[in-house]
Amino acid sequence: MKQVTFTQMKDGTAEDYQFLERLEDQFNAGLVDRLMQALRNLEHGLSGYQVSRLEHSLQSAARAEADGGDDDLVVAALLHDLGDELAPYNHSQLAAAIIRPYVRAEVSWVVHHHGLFQKVYYAHFFGEDPNERERYRDHPWYQKCVDFCERYDQAAFDPDYPTPPLEHFEPALRRVFSRTPFDPEVVGEEPEGSVAGLA
Ligand SMILES: [Fe+2]
Ligand SMILES: [Fe+2]
Repeated sequence: MKQVTFTQMKDGTAEDYQFLERLEDQFNAGLVDRLMQALRNLEHGLSGYQVSRLEHSLQSAARAEADGGDDDLVVAALLHDLGDELAPYNHSQLAAAIIRPYVRAEVSWVVHHHGLFQKVYYAHFFGEDPNERERYRDHPWYQKCVDFCERYDQAAFDPDYPTPPLEHFEPALRRVFSRTPFDPEVVGEEPEGSVAGLA
């Protein structure tokens, strides 16, 4: 079989769908390579900073690693701005969706909210509320997101920081993305009141 028999999904056979599943498994095996390419594309992303978006991402990950962060946190820091190119007004949520099947729920939550938490550093310059994040003050992961922004994100714009190349993080990326997606042993429990873990 080279192609399915149907032109509408509702007419597909078991054989069609087994065939598609095999192709999907093969395609998904290339996910880390595609993520690395997407990261490389950030080299030519948002300009004006002293470092490229790729270097910012690498430096965030390096800072998380130097801080003793585990694979989940290092990979989250590496990918946290991956949505810049395709979802400029909700880039945090795009990155969180990518890592969510593979990391602790806490880490997905932090990435999902980092853009809003990060506003504490600049929103007042635009007449906006820099403390919007305070609405999450009582959330059990509030402080984790505060720390992520302070230590790994807002700090990672330094052209003099000894930032390693992307290849340095490839083993961690491969370890994280070779996990079984949505494994409850990895993803764990989300706190009460969260909608799909991310509200
Ligand atoms: Fe961001
Ligand atoms: Fe960032």
